[in-house]
Amino acid sequence: MSDLSEPTLSPPLWRQLQLTAQALASIRAGTSGSIAFELVEPALRPGVQSLGFQVLRRLGRAEALRRHLAKRTPPPPADALLCTALALAWDPVSSPYEPFTLVDQAVEAAKRNPTTRAQASFINACLRRFLRERDELVAATEHEPVAQWNHPRWWIERLKRDHPREWQRVLAADNQQAPMTLRVNRRKTSVASYLLALRHDGQQGWPVGDDGVQLAQARPVLQLPGFAAGEVSVQDAAAQLAAALLLDGLPAGKPGAAPLRVLDACAAPGGKTAHLLERAGQTAIEVTALEVDAVRSRRIDETLARLDLQAQVVVADAGRPAQWWDGQPYDAILLDAPCTASGIVRRHPDVRWLRRESDTPQLAQQQAMLLAALWPLVRPGGRLLYCTCSVFREEGSYQIEAFLAHNTDARLLPSPGHLLPQGGGNGRGVPDNPLGDHDGFFYALLEKPAR
Ligand SMILES: C[S@@+](CC[C@H](N)C(=O)[O-])C[C@H]1O[C@@H](n2cnc3c(N)ncnc32)[C@H](O)[C@@H]1O
Repeated sequence: MSDLSEPTLSPPLWRQLQLTAQALASIRAGTSGSIAFELVEPALRPGVQSLGFQVLRRLGRAEALRRHLAKRTPPPPADALLCTALALAWDPVSSPYEPFTLVDQAVEAAKRNPTTRAQASFINACLRRFLRERDELVAATEHEPVAQWNHPRWWIERLKRDHPREWQRVLAADNQQAPMTLRVNRRKTSVASYLLALRHDGQQGWPVGDDGVQLAQARPVLQLPGFAAGEVSVQDAAAQLAAALLLDGLPAGKPGAAPLRVLDACAAPGGKTAHLLERAGQTAIEVTALEVDAVRSRRIDETLARLDLQAQVVVADAGRPAQWWDGQPYDAILLDAPCTASGIVRRHPDVRWLRRESDTPQLAQQQAMLLAALWPLVRPGGRLLYCTCSVFREEGSYQIEAFLAHNTDARLLPSPGHLLPQGGGNGRGVPDNPLGDHDGFFYALLEKPAR
């Protein structure tokens, strides 16, 4: 999901608020944000998604205000509309519309929808009181951590424990809009040439990492120079570290030698598979891209086709090598494991509200199982790169500490460890660190010493 568009006044705001509230109600009922916004009719989707993202980033505050305004929680459709209006209106500095306009239009939205019509006067009364008493109400919610940080309480507590010095910075970054970062395809062009192409097109960008370009302003991909021709892909700067970490330092294939055998164990939609192939350059490399979900695996094929790259795409469970492994060890394995996605909440602001505290231990168990199943497939002298787009230590440093304690044939090579999201605004200035404004990630590079 991305927030590429600014909200517009046409179609009418009340209609956009109705649709935003509907999306919020279905996310609260457990639907993922991408599906909830996908259901909005295409012409209205960008505006509704943009409003929806703002609501999700302020929902903790909106719910706290609603509790002060109404003793009883109204039925879900009315509550979603009320919280949508409060989330957008509570802070006049960042509000996308005049609070009075938002309140008028939210009441109009309630009246025009059969599922909220009966609560229209109640919504009107709550929102008018909010306008009259805004400063006092906001002050009354100020001490509530969920209202202040717009994350569930368990998430805030976990971050405090995991990153005692940085937790506030991480939470603040999570509530910002993520920048758009591209990965330049080394096989087709270079970062320097692509920056020139952007400038020629009237767009501003700057280099991040080895292969990345961060844009000053997000754009629909088809408006990017060279996108259809496979010159660039959208990929966060922290995610772009995987290919270099895994491949750099491996012996370059010599002419006539067998190609490097690489396994991308959890591959869809194929962003890192593609980067491995782009980055290999002249080194002969043979990549197997595994994915357990057949529908998602088709996205690997699409990614590779657009970039003109080849890999063997296999639909299978990485945790059951007996079902797909040919018995030949791999020189390098990338395990980009399923995780809570707690590092990428800027791009998926629904994630924090959808996750449950119990998801983390469950996912950590799955990650440990995948690590244990794949480690025997690494040849002596080969490597496994474990990564997650999570900031939780249970899915990162604690996972690897436990793995190293049980696998004495594994050695941890110099690795980035936990990379915390960098909130540099939305990237309107050249960043002061080489990776720029990036998502939260964890990387551990493991080596199996040669016998
Ligand atoms: C974090 S995403 C991978 C992103 C991908 N590496 C990229 O850069 O585009 C994790 C993927 O692993 C897949 N997955 C989960 N469990 C798996 C398993 N046991 N075997 C193979 N794939 C699995 C999920 O369906 C999901 O597509």
